[in-house]
Amino acid sequence: MRGLLTLKGLSTEKIQQIINYALELKGGAKKTYENKKMATLFFENSTRTQYSFQTAMINLGINVISFNASASSVNKGETLYDTVRTFESLGLDGVVIRHSKDEYFKELENIKMPIFNGGDGAANHPTQCLLDLMTIYEEYGHFAGLKVAIIGDISHSRVAHGNIEVMNRLGMEVYIAGPEEYNDGSAPHIDLDEAIKTCDVIMLLRVQFERHQEKMSMSVEEYHQKFGLTEERMNNMKEKAIIMHPAPINRGVEIADSVAECPKSRIYKQMTNGVYVRMAVISMVLDGDL
Ligand code: CP
Repeated sequence: MRGLLTLKGLSTEKIQQIINYALELKGGAKKTYENKKMATLFFENSTRTQYSFQTAMINLGINVISFNASASSVNKGETLYDTVRTFESLGLDGVVIRHSKDEYFKELENIKMPIFNGGDGAANHPTQCLLDLMTIYEEYGHFAGLKVAIIGDISHSRVAHGNIEVMNRLGMEVYIAGPEEYNDGSAPHIDLDEAIKTCDVIMLLRVQFERHQEKMSMSVEEYHQKFGLTEERMNNMKEKAIIMHPAPINRGVEIADSVAECPKSRIYKQMTNGVYVRMAVISMVLDGDL
């Protein structure tokens, strides 16, 4: 299949090439396409991924078609495959898809048009991982040897699962922290306060209530006290360590309101970098480089 569905199987050299190209685009390099059309097919809510993909398309001169699942023929029972096959038949040059089903793209193997994964269930979110890596690379200029703590609702997070796999391959030391009920063993566990004092990257996750089968065992106030990045914890971070979060953020839950935009926070820079990473990925796929 063409496009970008997961980072598994993508070499570390190719990942570095995407980041380097995104940095060139951020530095002012221009790339323009004529007479191309792409659509964003989001079957789950999104602000950053959907609209930064659309911004990336506009920056590349690509015409953008928005899709409203609730006003589409999905409501008449049309399958994902037939929806995507329809857009292919309309002559589109690519689609971005977000869907609640893990690896939904396995149903789309007959589609020849490029597909860009905007998130599948709790499995993959490749452009989020790439923008996270770009943000870390901009900060440190390398990956190997950096110590990263991913903190929070690990078991429901496609961002955590994708990042752990690729960060390990890039030579980073990745740990998880947070409530035991969300520890799925996908990386070694670290005590939260130990992580705060020793890690170069503190990556917080939202508690993903919409994916929970069972109610969280504690209140959000208790979560904040036990596992949130409070001002006190932020003051214990290493001098050059940075705070990241894929967002949306829940201020006062996983991160204190006053910490969300503190000098160590790179949360809004991650969003900016998302546009350039998505421009790089779209461009490399359209040019046959990915
Ligand atoms: N980080 C992220 O995927 O945000 P959205 O759900 O708003 O796209």
